[in-house]
Amino acid sequence: MRLIDRWHRQLNYLRVSITDRCNLRCIYCQTGPVFHKQNHDDILRYEEILRIITAGIALGITKVRITGGEPLIRRNVFSFLKDVSHLPGLEDVSFTTNGLLLERHVQDIVAAKIQRINVSLDTLKADKFIAISGADRWQQVWNGLIAAHTAGIFPIKLNVVAMKGLNDDEWLAFADLTRHYPFWVRFIELMPVGHSDLYAQRWVSSDTIKKTIESKFGKLIPLEKHVHDGPAERFKLNDSKGEIGFIHAISHHFCQTCNRLRLTANGCLRACLLSDQQIDLKTLIRQGCSDKDIQQQLIAAVSLKPISHQNLDSPIACSEQMVRIGG
Ligand code: 5AD
Ligand code: SF4
Repeated sequence: MRLIDRWHRQLNYLRVSITDRCNLRCIYCQTGPVFHKQNHDDILRYEEILRIITAGIALGITKVRITGGEPLIRRNVFSFLKDVSHLPGLEDVSFTTNGLLLERHVQDIVAAKIQRINVSLDTLKADKFIAISGADRWQQVWNGLIAAHTAGIFPIKLNVVAMKGLNDDEWLAFADLTRHYPFWVRFIELMPVGHSDLYAQRWVSSDTIKKTIESKFGKLIPLEKHVHDGPAERFKLNDSKGEIGFIHAISHHFCQTCNRLRLTANGCLRACLLSDQQIDLKTLIRQGCSDKDIQQQLIAAVSLKPISHQNLDSPIACSEQMVRIGG
């Protein structure tokens, strides 16, 4: 049995949010009214998450990404990461972090056998970092990146959410960074998640970014697709150590190739980031359901997957904040 949806997409990628808490407040993520954290009891326990992932593996999940909130602030996260990376059947285990705790925990990450990570870094300037994330921590994130790079973690992907008037003077600096470090910069188009007018004011197309980079550095060299690439279109500069990717979530819909299923911190399965439809797996698990029942719910969640996200120029389909769903 496999997780195949109504449009024949095979889902092999599970993104798992393990907390809705974060030590930053990025403007595109914790949007709208002040955010209320969920109770400890509402959050899935590690054993419950491992059970769900194991059920997913039986149905063809091969790739898992741990997200949040900020996953590294949850207690005992490193032993959990180790447990996940040792589950038989997974080919790729990674996490997304804001980088604040990277330097302190880089050896724990290596010991947990995590090879690749994604770090959110929307700017290379300390003052912009404050404007975007609410905290004066740019240097701390940078130190974490260098520590992870020095410890041999590879690839390190840098998530750069593109925002007009905030970081649109930095496309060249990010491109230039890939000439000096083997980082994989990913420019991500802003998505209209949560109630915010940020999207209307700040959205920039990835084509604009690409053109700006090419006008200075010459034509970008396209890279071949990997199995675990995800939706990024990948390129490199002529003389670079790293690469540059574009995730044009909005301007070119990539829904046809979307292979993802999401598990929220409070135990709900979501098949599409931009739809509020979900299945509450936590209640079922706490009522004592079997592993087969979990598999059935995974299959049911996949059947909810829409062919594509709705017209994104109209009101937002997903009203949850990104910090709750896991980016
Ligand atoms: N639009 C695009 N990307 C987002 N992320 C969070 N919120 C948004 C949004 N509204 C992504 C960023 C961040 C990761 C945690 O989630 O890439 O680095
Ligand atoms: Fe925290 Fe990441 Fe959201 Fe920023 S984007 S507030 S770092 S979870």
